[in-house]
Amino acid sequence: MTNQALSLPMLASEKLQADQRIQQAKELLASALRDHSQSINEIRPPNPALVDRYQDSLKRLAAARGGAPYFPYITSGLGNGPFVELGDGSVKLDFIVGIGVHGMGHSHPAMLDATIDAGLEDTVMQGNLQHNSGSLEMCERLIGLANQSGAKLDHCLLSTSGAMANENSLKIAFHNRFPASRVICMDNCFAGRSLALAQLTDRPAYRAGLPKTLDVDFIPMFHPADPEGTTRGAIETLQKLLARHPGEYACLWLELVAGEGGYYPGTTHYFEEICKICHEHNVLVIFDEVQTFSRLSQPFAFQHFGLEKYADIVTLGKITQVCATLYGDSLKPKGPVLSQTFTGATASIRCGLAVLDELQAKECFGAKGWNMRRHQYFKAKLEALEKKHPGKITGPHGEGMMIAFTPGNGGAEEAKNMLSRLYDLGLMGFLAGSNPNRIRFLPPPGVTTEAHIDLAVEIIEKALVS
Ligand SMILES: Cc1ncc(COP(=O)(O)O)c(C=O)c1O
Repeated sequence: MTNQALSLPMLASEKLQADQRIQQAKELLASALRDHSQSINEIRPPNPALVDRYQDSLKRLAAARGGAPYFPYITSGLGNGPFVELGDGSVKLDFIVGIGVHGMGHSHPAMLDATIDAGLEDTVMQGNLQHNSGSLEMCERLIGLANQSGAKLDHCLLSTSGAMANENSLKIAFHNRFPASRVICMDNCFAGRSLALAQLTDRPAYRAGLPKTLDVDFIPMFHPADPEGTTRGAIETLQKLLARHPGEYACLWLELVAGEGGYYPGTTHYFEEICKICHEHNVLVIFDEVQTFSRLSQPFAFQHFGLEKYADIVTLGKITQVCATLYGDSLKPKGPVLSQTFTGATASIRCGLAVLDELQAKECFGAKGWNMRRHQYFKAKLEALEKKHPGKITGPHGEGMMIAFTPGNGGAEEAKNMLSRLYDLGLMGFLAGSNPNRIRFLPPPGVTTEAHIDLAVEIIEKALVS
């Protein structure tokens, strides 16, 4: 609450924010953005006059970053909802949004407004010696959301990447359960790109040539084709591991919907069974919500699956623009093991708060909220394609605003070819999983409409038959 609202003397910063010129400038900028972004409202091919310059930019980008980006994609810096203009004048329907980051799509007015507010603050970055009011607001907001249905996550540590949020979660767990030093993960999981997280991630190629930093063991992931068998397999493997290494496990680290692993949601029963065993063995439970946060029926996937009592540590990122590690007071480290120069950019933190406001205002959450309704809509359309083109496309189809399908036989080449056909036709998704390889979508929850989904499905059908 501002000092003015509390009848306290106004700070100079509050006078600046209340200055009429700021409001007028904001209105002017918002109307210019609206006028120019509204023309970006459909998929378009490249403008031939811009192709050479664009190709040159792509070449320079590849040289500078040491390799071509996955897609020949450099934006012009302007978009409209899920539509984005590229530097060659083409327009794509962006259903992957930087792998789940741009929850309000491209060029959203609320993001501009929050960025202007951030630009008026004194520093570009915030960190452990630089907390502006936005940091406090973000921490309190995330703690409030996390605890709204009974979890007990008292503290929040902001960070600049999902990987750092997960690193912090492991530090908290190891520190608290010292000398236990092993971790249990689920098959097919992805935790991030640090040296430690490369061990948690079930992709040997991602740790090729890297030294072993942690002892990690894996349990089977829930699979919808064999719910009982995979649940039983996970329980048995977990029990064997706990018996083989008594007292050595500090934590179980889990994604509740395997993201990079192929969009396999688990079930409440599966998660309860394994979390319960872990708690009985004094093993902490970490839920990684870096990809799931804000995409299911509740802000947190652990709330969607009703796992509040098992949430010892929770990480999140992407859509919140700034990442975070939430943990209970009993796990507060007793030594200085957690600290960072940067916790986030001032603009990231302000925009993250605006995203949370928008998602709530747009009624994304709830069993009948827009995340679940759009999921049903998209899923029904993909199922219709499955019936119409047998063998060319199959489910499962993920959960909430995490949607995936398997093209053809699920081979790696087939999925890559399909992804590039979709891109050429104007729809952006990405790969997920292996054996089968899938195409995944992370549509921006704040702005995706049924008309956008219809357009995406139209393109998927074209790509299937082309
Ligand atoms: C489930 C999950 N955890 C962690 C990460 C790592 O996040 P970042 O890339 O921000 O470090 C990702 C990124 O895709 C993710 O999907």
